[in-house]
Amino acid sequence: MFKKFMDIFTNDIAIDLGTANTLVYRKGVGIVIDEPSVVALTKDSRKIIVVGEKAKQMLGKNPDEVKVIKPLKDGVIADFHITELMLRDLILRAQKKRLLIKPRVIVCVPSGITEVEKRAVRDSALHAGAREVHLVSEPVAAAIGADLPIHKPYGNLVMDIGGGTTEIAIISLSHIVVHSSIRLGGDKMDTDIVEFLRKKNNIFIGILTAERIKKEIGSAFPLEDELKMDVRGRDIVTGYPVTIEVTSEDIREALSETVEAMIDAVKRLFEKTPPELAADIAERGIVLTGGGAHLRGLDQKIRETVDLPVHVVPEALTCVVIGSGNILDNLERYREVLIKKIDA
Ligand SMILES: Nc1ncnc2c1ncn2[C@@H]1O[C@H](COP(=O)(O)OP(=O)(O)O)[C@@H](O)[C@H]1O
Ligand SMILES: [Mg+2]
Repeated sequence: MFKKFMDIFTNDIAIDLGTANTLVYRKGVGIVIDEPSVVALTKDSRKIIVVGEKAKQMLGKNPDEVKVIKPLKDGVIADFHITELMLRDLILRAQKKRLLIKPRVIVCVPSGITEVEKRAVRDSALHAGAREVHLVSEPVAAAIGADLPIHKPYGNLVMDIGGGTTEIAIISLSHIVVHSSIRLGGDKMDTDIVEFLRKKNNIFIGILTAERIKKEIGSAFPLEDELKMDVRGRDIVTGYPVTIEVTSEDIREALSETVEAMIDAVKRLFEKTPPELAADIAERGIVLTGGGAHLRGLDQKIRETVDLPVHVVPEALTCVVIGSGNILDNLERYREVLIKKIDA
């Protein structure tokens, strides 16, 4: 009864602090925020102008007076101060009304995060108004979001492909047994496309255009019906705006090296995996989550290369925040998945 009463007055939230997107789940409600992890600030970095989609749309179009920053750009936290400003903005926005009791906050962090970064995330959330902060490893949250039986003595392999990082982890009995994290993901694919078109077609395109191309016609495996689209950019030689036609074959070639590197990371993880767990994975296969999992034919490409079953989670972009929300809604059941303690 008292607990129910408390629930009405609290706004506990779970945050998927991603390199590309930050999502917030409010206890008992669901996803309340889903925004790109991009911040537009005044030139002196003191005041936030806007956080999220509106800031992302300013990338490459901002005047000198406005700074547009992805604070988690290179893998993990590249800028602590701005990450804190962004978290504060999102935590405040996630609370419907300002209540007397500060929220408990769960934050998902990459499995390769250092102690210093853990402390920074915790302190940012505390400064941003949290009463209590718990950290959860992202692959564990993804596995819970994907409904995998993580409590069992059974190897579950999750590959989460985000913007700046790809995390691969084998989870058994609620804990990560082996993991590997490479600082390479969807963002690298975007720059691959920029580079490829510059070299092959002598055209400069922006990063947002590259991302659109990747989503519209990008692939990792030959398509039954190959695709094409018109792309606008700037001619390197003349400097004039031009439009060219780009094919899915070209884009596949542009992405191939990054895709190979991701698959190599899976192979290397297997070399570190105890045989009993490897046997479980041979049976159940690999589960793909994160936005990068949506790249056409990536599952086929991995299946063909490592000869294991591969499944893409239907809600790959929200899987981590749904998993963390699940932890928040059932904190007693999931207490053991929380990252134990952060030193001082
Ligand atoms: N349909 C799609 N095809 C290929 N990549 C996609 C697609 N949708 C989203 N992405 C990419 O997924 C990445 C974001 O995934 P996300 O899981 O939100 O990352 P993070 O957890 O690092 O914030 C971006 O690089 C985005 O371009
Ligand atoms: Mg993520």
